[in-house]
Amino acid sequence: MANESQNWVLMVTAQTPTNIAVIKYWGKRDDSTLILPVNDSISVTLDPNHLCTTNTVAVSPIFQQDRMWLNANEISLSGGRFQSCLREIRSHACDVEDKKKGIKITKEDWSKLYLHIASYNNFPTAAGLASSAAGFACLVYALGKLMNVKEDESQLSAIARQGSGSACRSLYGGFVKWVMGKEENGSDSLAVQLADEKHWDDLVIVIAVVSSRQKETSSTSGMRETVETSLLLQHRAKEVVPKRILQMEQAIRNRDFPSFSRLTCADSNQFHAVCLDTSPPIFYMNDTSHRIISIVEKWNRSEEAPQVAYTFDAGPNAVLIARDRKAAALLIQRLLYYFPPSSDDLNSYIIGDNSIAKDAGI
Ligand code: DP6
Repeated sequence: MANESQNWVLMVTAQTPTNIAVIKYWGKRDDSTLILPVNDSISVTLDPNHLCTTNTVAVSPIFQQDRMWLNANEISLSGGRFQSCLREIRSHACDVEDKKKGIKITKEDWSKLYLHIASYNNFPTAAGLASSAAGFACLVYALGKLMNVKEDESQLSAIARQGSGSACRSLYGGFVKWVMGKEENGSDSLAVQLADEKHWDDLVIVIAVVSSRQKETSSTSGMRETVETSLLLQHRAKEVVPKRILQMEQAIRNRDFPSFSRLTCADSNQFHAVCLDTSPPIFYMNDTSHRIISIVEKWNRSEEAPQVAYTFDAGPNAVLIARDRKAAALLIQRLLYYFPPSSDDLNSYIIGDNSIAKDAGI
């Protein structure tokens, strides 16, 4: 480290949106550090104005250990997933020089320097709104910038995947596929962009926040129990998802909303069926979620073509994808009619103006 003073701090800030899967990842074939899924998945990256993580990562010779704060509270970095991401990203670090500040860090220095990480979510953490996806993608992206890592987004996605599976899809904007891969070492289990955010920008995403409470069963333990006990998961992973992935890719390519909507709703419903098929069963949706499904199904059937798709992750909140702004306005009207602000069923709505985000970035 050829630096005149030891009092310097080098920082990078990055912002990464979350993503919502329209063909879900549920179940790992490798539950150790690698995080390898039992099927491919496809997601859409959301507007960062509403659902994103901002990370500031800093390095300095005065830091005495790696430390991290989430929404201003210090959290432990001892977990295996943080350690995997930190180890992997450090192993790809390159020389960094800031001539103005007189700072030079060599490739070898990175293993001796400690990091401070401040992370902030602008949405409820661990409430089934994919907070870990945005969090780990942002961590890896920001550290990659700080350490001058030369790997591209796809290679970075393989590092983010080791933090949280779904995080690998947040390195890209638009529509993203996580290819499950075949290799045992996970080298081909990567995210690829199917279409950028401009490809289908009529879509408007509305999130109905049914509950911002932390979920009772984490995705990680839920999917572990599913893999151990559900026969339906085996059928889903082998027979259903491979065909659905091809159909979804085609629907996205052709901006075919009726097919997109049918596949998205069917996949969400099958994911929750698989959760019910787990022993003991896992319930992520609640009565309000079920009512939202009925409202959308009824509405779609009363029109010539579907207006809205719904999808639910590991929690009761509804992610509703309207075909265009007109459908989004009608959707909000309907939700307000069925769940008036005086009712306790829905907390709030998050509406994306420009719902599909570009990518991870500063
Ligand atoms: C229902 O990525 O949170 O949101 O890999 O164990 O961290 P881990 O799980 P996580 O699971 C996400 C599950 C899902 C579906 C999806 O995003 O594809």
